[in-house]
Amino acid sequence: MSLMKDKVCVISGGAGSIGLASAKRFLAEGARVMLIDLPGPALDEAVKACNSKDVMGFAADVSDANQVQAAFGKVTQAWGKLDVIVSNAGNAGRNSRIEDYPEDIFDLTLTIHARGAFLACKYGAPLMNDGGSIIITSSVSGVRGGNGVNMAYVTAKHAQIGVMRVAAKALAGRGIRVNTINPGPVDNEFQTGIEVEMGALLGVNITEQLNQTVPLKRHARPDEIAGAVLYLASDLSTYVTGTVHMVDGGIMC
Ligand SMILES: NC(=O)c1ccc[n+]([C@@H]2O[C@H](COP(=O)([O-])OP(=O)(O)OC[C@H]3O[C@@H](n4cnc5c(N)ncnc54)[C@H](O)[C@@H]3O)[C@@H](O)[C@H]2O)c1
Repeated sequence: MSLMKDKVCVISGGAGSIGLASAKRFLAEGARVMLIDLPGPALDEAVKACNSKDVMGFAADVSDANQVQAAFGKVTQAWGKLDVIVSNAGNAGRNSRIEDYPEDIFDLTLTIHARGAFLACKYGAPLMNDGGSIIITSSVSGVRGGNGVNMAYVTAKHAQIGVMRVAAKALAGRGIRVNTINPGPVDNEFQTGIEVEMGALLGVNITEQLNQTVPLKRHARPDEIAGAVLYLASDLSTYVTGTVHMVDGGIMC
């Protein structure tokens, strides 16, 4: 398998569920991958879990410009180029009614998702090869208001689409493609946390509700999201840019 042969890739949130699943898909297709995540044992464990000589970890906060520049500097120094950026790091915000919504959580969530994606484009794109690909992990929450209780997350996921659209236009002349991937609910810890918190607030079993209302009647596996990330990263999608790429089991149909 060689869809990603010799491609140098950076994946933020690389110690998490979707990031690590994407890294494994990339590595299996011949890529070299830097995983960026917050400092801590999860990052080391993710690097080990990849079980590959072609992976390295880099501890950085995606909302800190100096740390982002250091990460991109390291990857180009180590591997000589940069082909693919997956801006995927994220937090879950908070499920809370508007009148109670904490302003610090709103600011933090916008900072991680929107500023994080912006900095990835600002500092990553100048180092990328022409013809590269930037993928920003937005969400189904980037195109609808959800259950009306996560102002920060929904706003941040919409904002990432704005970052993507500006960057897609700005970088098209160099053949650099920029797309968002918009997953529906994934069967992982991140989403379970959201569903438990939202369910307690609304008095509804959100997990069951989703499994009944999503047309495909289930949550996604992380590797199903990774498959779509692989498509956008690889040369299978060379004419695809500026798109909001839904991977949502049909929620938005
Ligand atoms: N899980 C879902 O159902 C779902 C659905 C749609 C979109 N998403 C999005 O997918 C992306 C990945 O989520 P996941 O489900 O793999 O969750 P996850 O919690 O497993 O992974 C997120 C990773 O981002 C890292 N991170 C958080 N803040 C960071 C920061 N400031 N700097 C660097 N790293 C940071 C975390 O440490 C974590 O490893 C997120 O952007 C999330 O919003 C998830």
